[in-house]
Amino acid sequence: MNVLLAPMEGVVDFNMRRILTHIGGFSRCVTEFIRVTDHGLPNRVFLRHCPELDQNCETASNVPVAVQLLGSNPEAMASNAYRAAILGAKTIDINFGCPAKTVNKNEGGAKLLNSPETMYQIVRHIKQSLPEGIKLSAKMRLGYEQRHGYLENAIAVEAAGADELCVHARSKTDGYKPPAYWDLVDKIQQQLSINVVINGEIWNLDDWQEAKRQSGCSDTMIGRGILAQPDLAKQIQEFQQGISPKPLTWEEIMVYVHEYFLTTTVCYPKKFLGNRLKQWLSYLKINYPQAARLLENIKRSRDFEFIDHHLKNEMNGKL
Ligand SMILES: Cc1cc2nc3c(=O)[nH]c(=O)nc-3n(C[C@H](O)[C@H](O)[C@H](O)COP(=O)(O)O)c2cc1C
Repeated sequence: MNVLLAPMEGVVDFNMRRILTHIGGFSRCVTEFIRVTDHGLPNRVFLRHCPELDQNCETASNVPVAVQLLGSNPEAMASNAYRAAILGAKTIDINFGCPAKTVNKNEGGAKLLNSPETMYQIVRHIKQSLPEGIKLSAKMRLGYEQRHGYLENAIAVEAAGADELCVHARSKTDGYKPPAYWDLVDKIQQQLSINVVINGEIWNLDDWQEAKRQSGCSDTMIGRGILAQPDLAKQIQEFQQGISPKPLTWEEIMVYVHEYFLTTTVCYPKKFLGNRLKQWLSYLKINYPQAARLLENIKRSRDFEFIDHHLKNEMNGKL
């Protein structure tokens, strides 16, 4: 019963993976997507998205990290997957679910769900390029405009040689709107022999149990639910061990929030200062009202001292 940390571009970077896997409960993580066009990417691009490549491709808490690629050119995807493997990746993940307009305009991400043959070619080319022992997984939605074609797509992914398939149980048009159609993933899971992971709309222990029950999957992937409740994976682990979970307090969370602010500040250009922190707070406020107040106070600022002062005050309970 593995819990995987979902890839989330703009917020789940190396710093967030370190924090969340330190809190615990995860078996695996996936990087933010690396965009592949038609040429080989330089090593620095892989290392920027996945600094863990230099640490046995694991977070500091020894949780393995898969490198995710997004693109529609099978040859370019394969050569870049090979490059990632040479740099130390042990699992390559393929993104067949991104709904972003710019990505879909270039026939990448969720747009590929309209073409099982292209999905097959991408998985096949990557599989053939990878050194022995390197795993290949894919992540897809249930369809592009409609929740259609998912069985054909899933079968193509398996036939081409993927080792695992994660399904975000919605179409591209469904976006991130509830509900997630966990029951439809049961049909996929029944058809395939490879491991199928259920993803989408898991916010608490009840959702986790219900998603597993309806989908028939034992492994889950969680994204926004973890950012809203950073110890949800740990709570799941404890629940399975019969321990009654004790959620993190706001004071405990603030220590991680401050760490995230400091570590992301030095990683990204100044013009983006605070962006990732604000993203995280916008999820935390779902469960912690204090996060809403903090976000309100800092949301217009890009000034390090100003934001740091507010975070420190919050940590000292001065606000
Ligand atoms: C801000 C944001 C960024 C995301 N970035 C990625 C990404 O880089 N690669 C990917 O496969 N999915 C990405 N996703 C989709 C998530 O991995 C996940 O499939 C989706 O959020 C549903 O799961 P959840 O309800 O547990 O959040 C992103 C989602 C969000 C909200």
